[in-house]
Amino acid sequence: MTALQNTLPKKRIAVLISGGGTNLQALIDACEKPDFPAEIVLVISNKKEAFGLERAKKAQIPTKILSHKDYETREHFDRELHETLVKSEVDLVCLAGFLRLLTSHFVEQWHNKLINIHPSLLPAFKGLNVHQRALDAGVRFTGCTVHIVRAEMDAGPIIIQAAVPILQNDTESILAARILKSEHEVYPKALYLMATGDAYVEGDKVLLKNRGALPDSLIHPIL
Ligand code: GRF
Repeated sequence: MTALQNTLPKKRIAVLISGGGTNLQALIDACEKPDFPAEIVLVISNKKEAFGLERAKKAQIPTKILSHKDYETREHFDRELHETLVKSEVDLVCLAGFLRLLTSHFVEQWHNKLINIHPSLLPAFKGLNVHQRALDAGVRFTGCTVHIVRAEMDAGPIIIQAAVPILQNDTESILAARILKSEHEVYPKALYLMATGDAYVEGDKVLLKNRGALPDSLIHPIL
C-alpha cells in the first residue's frame, strides 16, 4: 500500500447475496482493515431469510431486502436494484452467491463495475452442480474464478483464479468446502485489485499492473 493510496477515497461497494454469505464475510473482514481501498456501504438480498443479512448487521452495514417476488418482471426488479445502487452512490457491485439472473440491460448499466465469483476455473464448468461435474470429469484441478460480469452467464473478463486440486477420495461436499476456502482468499484480492485500479479491463481481458512472478507450472499428482 502506497501513501498515495491511503489518501484516495475508498471505493463504495454493494454486495448482493441470496444465502449464507461466507464470501460476504470474507469481504467484510477485508474491508475492516484500515488500509483496504474499499468499504461495503450496502448489502442487498433477494431473500429475507438469507443468513448473510445477519453478518452485515453485525458489521453495522446497511441492508436491504429486495424480493424478486414483489416485482412483476425481471426488468422491474432490476430497475429497482439499479436505483437503489445509484442512491447509495455505489462504485462497484460484488455478487456473492446471488441466485438471480440479471438482465443484460442491468449488466450494461454496470459495465465493468459488476463482479462475480464462481466455484470453478472458468470457462470450465459454467452453471450449476459444478463440483460433481468436475469430479465426474476426472480433472486434477478445479478451483474458483472472480470475473467481471457480462450478459452471458458465468462469462466475462477474469480478474483472479485459484487452482484447487481434486484428491482421490473427494466427495462433492469435501471438494466444495476446499474450494469455498479458496474463494474467501481470492474474492478480497480481486476486490483490492479492482478498487486500486491495479486490475483494469481492456476488451475481453483484465490486465494487471506490476504483479510478482509465478511458478512455471502447478503439477498434480506430485511424483
Ligand atoms: C459460492 O460457492 C459462490 O462461488 C457461488 O455461490 C456460493 C455462495 O456461498 N456463486 P456463500 O453464500 O458466499 O457462502
